[in-house]
Amino acid sequence: MNVISLFMRYQSDMKAVEQALLDVFGQEKTTLKESATHLLKAGGKRLRPMLALLGARFGNRQSSDVLNIAVPLELIHMATLVHDDVIDEARTRRGQLTVMAKWDARTAMYTGDFIFAHALRIACTIRNPQLHQILSLSIVHMCRGEFAQMRRFFDLNQPLIEYWRRIKRKTALLIAVSCQLGSMAAGADEVVSSLLYQIGYDIGMAFQIMDDLLDLTGTEKQIGKPPGNDLKQGNLTLPVLLALRMPNLRESLISGIAVIKETQSPSAIKQVIEIIKTSGTIETSREIAERVIARALSRIAQLPAQKERDDLIHLANFVINRSN
Ligand code: IPE
Ligand code: IPE
Ligand code: MG
Ligand code: MG
Repeated sequence: MNVISLFMRYQSDMKAVEQALLDVFGQEKTTLKESATHLLKAGGKRLRPMLALLGARFGNRQSSDVLNIAVPLELIHMATLVHDDVIDEARTRRGQLTVMAKWDARTAMYTGDFIFAHALRIACTIRNPQLHQILSLSIVHMCRGEFAQMRRFFDLNQPLIEYWRRIKRKTALLIAVSCQLGSMAAGADEVVSSLLYQIGYDIGMAFQIMDDLLDLTGTEKQIGKPPGNDLKQGNLTLPVLLALRMPNLRESLISGIAVIKETQSPSAIKQVIEIIKTSGTIETSREIAERVIARALSRIAQLPAQKERDDLIHLANFVINRSN
């Protein structure tokens, strides 16, 4: 599902984002352009530019800066996905072959860099050093989050705080700054921009918890990417870490995960998923995501009273009810 379909009122702005995204790589007819547009044309929810546009509605002016931040936010996200699929050895993304699967890992590494460089090319038209600093730092954190995740692959004894820290860095901060920078680009009050940052942060944390749940419960058709991939990679997510803390399940989980590590076999992954499903930790994780969204909702209520608050509420609820 495309987030645009939630909001008719943003349709023309989102169309402008879409057109700008299509124009990003110019007229060249090269493999690099083809690989870069491959993921773009495959769809995606466009959550980050949508949040930037929403944030901008809390500003006090119309500015081309809004488009020039919304587009790089999606591009940065896409660049990280292209790289992430190499690390995760994923063959599908947005219902299509990943760049790595369609071409190869080297092509994917350069494609990610290429998309990333175009993001910077567009963002730098905005004359506001503070905005660039915030954007750059969010990317620094994302790298740190992805790296920390890799270091903890198959670590059965990692503290839960590690999970919170990595989903904050790898996902929530980019979503937080999407809200914040959209509003800054439209000249919003600093108090409002900070509040939007916090709202985006909560939405981002819940978003990643739900993504981790969908990896265990979704189908490939539904999520457009291979389910069970987190376990296959040894990326132990919230329901797994919670189930590992249950004395009656710990041993069977440890041996199941050891088999996955050794064989990567689909049946071992299936078995571990079954244990997790019976443990109740999927439901607990969902409740945690709901609590995070409840906090976002209480912060949304502190925003200036305008109709876009309802759109944010809608979007926050979408995050915990989404199936893709
Ligand atoms: C996928 O993000 C990566 C995560 C941060 C979980 P999205 O679920 O927003 O991916 P697209 O853009 O819709 O493909
Ligand atoms: C988000 O995490 C990855 C990035 C921040 C790029 P995931 O690894 O869970 O994302 P998916 O599930 O591959 O989309
Ligand atoms: Mg991944
Ligand atoms: Mg995932």
